[in-house]
Formats: sequence, C-alpha cells, structure tokens
Amino acid sequence: MKLGPNDACWCGSGRKYKKCHMMQDEKVRLFKDKGVIVPPHKLLKTPDMIEGMKRSAVINRACLDEVGKQIRAGMTTEEIDKIVYEVTTGMGGIPAPLNYEGFPKSVCTSINDEVCHGIPSDEIELIDGDIINVDCSTIFNGYFSDSSRMFMIGDVSPERRRLVEVTRECVMKGLEAVKPWGRLGDVGAAVNEHATKNGYSVVREIGGHGIGLEFHEDPWVGFTTKAGTGMLLVPGLTFTIEPMVNAGEADIFCDEDNGWTIYTEDGSDSAQWEIMITVTEDGYELICD
Ligand code: MF3
Ligand code: CO
Repeated sequence: MKLGPNDACWCGSGRKYKKCHMMQDEKVRLFKDKGVIVPPHKLLKTPDMIEGMKRSAVINRACLDEVGKQIRAGMTTEEIDKIVYEVTTGMGGIPAPLNYEGFPKSVCTSINDEVCHGIPSDEIELIDGDIINVDCSTIFNGYFSDSSRMFMIGDVSPERRRLVEVTRECVMKGLEAVKPWGRLGDVGAAVNEHATKNGYSVVREIGGHGIGLEFHEDPWVGFTTKAGTGMLLVPGLTFTIEPMVNAGEADIFCDEDNGWTIYTEDGSDSAQWEIMITVTEDGYELICD
C-alpha cells in the first residue's frame, strides 16, 4: 500500500502526501536501509495531537504548581494526593496513575532513598530536610501528559540540595541532546555523562517513555545509553526525559509488600525530574514540565 505523491497524507492533515510527510518518510527510509531503528508512523504526533497533549499539560502543571504552593513539613503524602486529585478533576481531567495497573493513588510521591513510584499515604509525613519527587500524570480528552518535580522540605542539607540541582541539570543536558535525525541514545548519554561527572549514578532499569494517546508508548527511553545508538529522532516523536539519579550506587529494589515503591539498594538518596517533549524540525519543543 504505497502512497502516491498526490494521495492524502497518512497523518490526517488533509494535505497531499508530497506537500506533507513524503520528504520526511524518504529520509527515514534511508536510515532504515542502513539498519537504524526508526519510529513507525503511529508514534509520530501531528500538530493536532500535540495541541491535545499541551491542553492536558495545562492541568498537569497546575497540579504541580499547587503542590509547590502548599507542600511543607508536617504534611502527609496523602494530602499531596488529594491536591492532585482535586485540581485534576476540577479542571476536567483524570489522574492517569489512579488504578493504572492497580496503582491505588492519583500521584507518585517518592522521598529521599525512594527512587520512584512511592504511594501516597496518611502515615507518611514530610519532615524538615526531606527531598521529595512528586510525579503527576493527566489524561484530558484522551491525551496524556506526564511530568515530575523535586521539592525540598525546609532546611535541606547541601548534599541533598546538590543532588536535586544536578539531576535537574541532567534533564536539561538530555533535552539539549534532542535533535531531529539524531538518536535517542544521545539523550541518555548526555544525562549519564553529567550525573557521573558529578559523582552520581543513573538508574538503569527504569526509564522514560513515548507518550500521547497512551500513558506509556514506545520508545523506552534509557538514561545510561550510548550516543549514536537507539531509535532515530524524527520530528513528531514525543517522549519523556525522566532520569533517576542516585547519590550512591545505581542498584535498586522494589518494595515487596506494595509491589510498587522502588528504593536505592544502598539507602542513598535519589532524585528525579521529568519533562515531556516532542522532536521538531529544528530541535525540540517542551510540552510539559
Ligand atoms: N508517572 C510515572 C512515569 O513517569 C509512571 C507512574 S505509573 C504509576 O512514567 F502507576 F505508578 F503511577
Ligand atoms: Co513518565
């Protein structure tokens, strides 16, 4: 089923193929013939879909903004969950984590040596000096958005503060590595280089992901990858950059009782920030942070 130049483009723009994705497809084909992994059409988002994800992101950002205003020592992570649930539903969205593969809450809250997927609870109270990742994801009108931020509670040690700041820098280094016709492995390589240069390690087993009409789409995005490897970065490819950076060793384990929460094996602190981006003709566009 080959599209002719004057047929309607596969992307649904209504334009002729030759005026829309034909040149891009030809370029992708050259990489594919050389053995490069290339994204299938279904992973490439159209301007309408990007618009849909940005609307979803308005809610996601509002949740994190509101958490940022209210978060303080003495607050339980259950209260953070409630803020996210109320803001999301109040704006017409659905919290994506709620009931996702059995996850019981609306947001992930991961404190200190918790790497990710911490479950909010009225028994977990924030204390002065904690660092916490709040990972928020929204469904709005069928479109997903996903981002996370670190918050520092009260008087945080210089060591923890540095971990939080360097992890943020890692995300920005990863972002700067996003270039059309580059490779996905370039992103993880940039992240890993900055983390290790600062004496930290990057979690290997858990990564970012494609996103759009599903919470987790292809590609899987590792953050300990080699430059020049992995999927071709084609305009419209949309994914998260969300490295988990450990102050100590990279090894992790999962809480056997709840089946969700991931901890550092050595008990060292871990930080994570998450942004959601799309590849463009000349670089990238930030969709959610
Ligand atoms: N928000 C996480 C991510 O960044 C996924 C959490 S899955 C959940 O991909 F079920 F724990 F919410
Ligand atoms: Co994510």
